[in-house]
Amino acid sequence: MTALTADRVGVTLLERRVVDDVSLTVPAGTWVTLVGPNGAGKSTLLRAVSGAVEHAGTIAFDGVEVARLRSRERARLVAVVPQDPARPDGMTVLDYVLLGRTPYVPYLGTESAEDLAVAGELLDTLELRSLSGRLVTELSGGEFQRAVLARALAQQAPVLLLDEPTSSLDLGHAQQVLELVDELRASRGLTVVSALHDLTTAGQFADHLVLLVGGRVVAQGSAQEVLTEELIREHYGARVRVVTDPQGGVVVVPLRSRPARGQEGVA
Ligand SMILES: Nc1ncnc2c1ncn2[C@@H]1O[C@H](COP(=O)(O)OP(=O)(O)OP(=O)(O)O)[C@@H](O)[C@H]1O
Ligand SMILES: [Mg+2]
Repeated sequence: MTALTADRVGVTLLERRVVDDVSLTVPAGTWVTLVGPNGAGKSTLLRAVSGAVEHAGTIAFDGVEVARLRSRERARLVAVVPQDPARPDGMTVLDYVLLGRTPYVPYLGTESAEDLAVAGELLDTLELRSLSGRLVTELSGGEFQRAVLARALAQQAPVLLLDEPTSSLDLGHAQQVLELVDELRASRGLTVVSALHDLTTAGQFADHLVLLVGGRVVAQGSAQEVLTEELIREHYGARVRVVTDPQGGVVVVPLRSRPARGQEGVA
């Protein structure tokens, strides 16, 4: 179980402050989701948390600053599903998932039986077993996205960063993947930080939502507090209706300015 804290974090890219004075606390075993329009700084903040870009301020895991960690230590602590991961040439799905075991393989060593068992179990869970010998360059978008998640989960790190992890998945696989992450959160105390564009889904899975706009936090709290028609209009320029689901939760329904197709003339 590992808590994450960000204190007054800033990131400057090409002389632009794209993450500005962001502070947040993610208690161990909870799920925080970043929402916000394109270019808001969600991916950059996640990249700062994973140590992939330099930042001002402090990012710490249980009080240990990310900037002080060696890459191998960091990889045992934080696993990442990037928004747009590269597909290495000539690499099979199994070998790609095994990359997640790298922090556990001794220098100049090879994967152990346990590494293969962990990878094999994830191939089954994420319905990739029949594709394990296929090259990652020869997968559909959603198949590859599940392989990326399998690789991240193979790392067995206590902190998981998910940048739009379901952007290529069909509805069924998206639900399956997010439920799997939530089960791991509940059973193993995984700490999850994700960025999600689908606001209804964001509200369903997160304990806490953070709305980033122009690199700054403009709202945070529960789904009911953050997913309001006013905030969504103001920051996304979108017209939506926010409906409270009778089962609990919040549903964000996009509205058309004219009647939806097929509804013309319906009283
Ligand atoms: N490598 C880079 N060099 C310079 N500027 C960058 C770089 N990566 C991102 N930016 C800029 O930083 C800002 C934040 O980008 P970021 O990718 O964090 O946004 P985001 O919230 O993840 O957006 P999206 O919803 O489109 O994924 C944007 O203005 C973007 O153009
Ligand atoms: Mg992004």
